[in-house]
Amino acid sequence: MSDLTASVKKDSQGSIAVEGYEALNYNFHYTSPVFDIQHAKLADIYKRWQRVLIVIDTIVHPIYKEQIEKYFDHYNIAVTWKVINGGELHKTMDTMLDIVDAMDSFGIVRTEPTLVVGGGLVTDVSGYACASYRRTSNFIRVPTTLIGLIDASVSIKVGLNHKKLKNRLGAYHAPLHTFLDFSFLKTLPVGQVRNGFAELVKIASVGDKAVWDLLVKHGKELVETGFGYRDGSDAVRAPGTEICHRGIETMLELETPNLHELGLDRVIAFGHTWSPTLELTPRIPLRHGHAITIDMAYSITLALSRGLINEAQRDEWFTLVSSVGLSMDHELFDDELIAVATDAIKKTRDGKQRFAIPNGEFGKCIFLNDVSIEELQSVLKIHKEFVKSRYGSGVGKEAYVDAGDLGVEPEAYAKSDKKSVAAGDSCCTGESLKRKGINGNDTKAAAVAAGAVPVDGTGTVTNGVTGTSQD
Ligand SMILES: NC(=O)c1ccc[n+]([C@@H]2O[C@H](COP(=O)([O-])OP(=O)(O)OC[C@H]3O[C@@H](n4cnc5c(N)ncnc54)[C@H](O)[C@@H]3O)[C@@H](O)[C@H]2O)c1
Ligand SMILES: [Zn+2]
Repeated sequence: MSDLTASVKKDSQGSIAVEGYEALNYNFHYTSPVFDIQHAKLADIYKRWQRVLIVIDTIVHPIYKEQIEKYFDHYNIAVTWKVINGGELHKTMDTMLDIVDAMDSFGIVRTEPTLVVGGGLVTDVSGYACASYRRTSNFIRVPTTLIGLIDASVSIKVGLNHKKLKNRLGAYHAPLHTFLDFSFLKTLPVGQVRNGFAELVKIASVGDKAVWDLLVKHGKELVETGFGYRDGSDAVRAPGTEICHRGIETMLELETPNLHELGLDRVIAFGHTWSPTLELTPRIPLRHGHAITIDMAYSITLALSRGLINEAQRDEWFTLVSSVGLSMDHELFDDELIAVATDAIKKTRDGKQRFAIPNGEFGKCIFLNDVSIEELQSVLKIHKEFVKSRYGSGVGKEAYVDAGDLGVEPEAYAKSDKKSVAAGDSCCTGESLKRKGINGNDTKAAAVAAGAVPVDGTGTVTNGVTGTSQD
């Protein structure tokens, strides 16, 4: 929620100057399980309306419907559901307008907050509906994925994809409250947990040494047990909770002074330099977490070659990410891609490289601006030899997007064009992936021709349907 203080002055020539400052207020609550009748905090907000409109996706709805209804029933709050299709192909204006229609038929009162329950996709698209509805309306977020909990819900960015362009339309729109409940990880598939874990590796490597040490110690077990919520015990959950809380708080400290992303030296850009191009280049896109881990792994090799970290630190880093099944290299991550991606990212960083990499120890960050293409390519050679000698191809587990991520079967998406991917499904932008490649993969040239690395004017690298520099 925001509030504006403004003054209006007229000068001697009759021109009018308006000056205003906006106060932002929004809250995060660690409440778990948030839909437990013992925790009245969320219900208390809705008591005055005695009803709630909940936006949720088709996968999360059947899992949590009963629990959520029981919770609100207990407090005599009537639930109205708006269930939307999930997947990146449904992060569209159509879905957003569908949510707007639901708000309209519900007759939402201006200050009444819509409740949004789901991963980053649902909170982004619903948040944008709320940002636009009657110019602005309130919402409350309950993230249910690790990406949602430690990344998407920490920011105030909301939005949707337009044509091939990821997050092309959006807004900065803070929710009233965000309820952070890690027990949702109990039902999150391990591939999604791993995907979110990559963002924790990012924050820890360049922003928080204490989190880094905890990840090294507990990472593998945390990913395998859904942070201790699936099969783990309190002993697993405790470090998981500490990691997530610190990760969220570090993100808030780093990014809150830069809410509108005007500053371009961004610590959290670690792993987000070459990955926007890489993510979409394979026939079936890489999961975001895998693409950024390949980017980070290469950056770690660069940090070693620059003498910014030592071999023991490099080994610790690779041991962690390989143990959790994240990717470290990909055959399409090659000289050509590095060149194309470096050029693309510079355009969004005001002509500078601003490569964020660890500096001296994990948790500290430096921005490099003087890396020649020759150096990048020779480091890539070293990187590939290192990964191959220790880890084989370097491609991790469940590295590619699935139907849940996309909203359609990946094969259908990769093979088909816009008309045939899903008849009647106007959302589909499969054409961007209809690239002719060798060995089942696409060439970088084809990827670029298909719009893989266009750059917009606002400092965001867009990457076709999936992947941007900062989501
Ligand atoms: N606003 C931001 O700053 C920001 C930051 C990062 C990412 N994002 C956006 O977030 C999206 C990715 O987020 P995501 O990874 O959460 O994706 P998502 O919302 O698509 O969720 C991934 C999958 O997990 C399922 N799921 C969600 N919660 C579940 C649960 N508890 N149990 C079982 N299944 C569950 C979903 O149905 C979906 O299939 C992208 O669109 C990205 O652009 C935004
Ligand atoms: Zn990211």
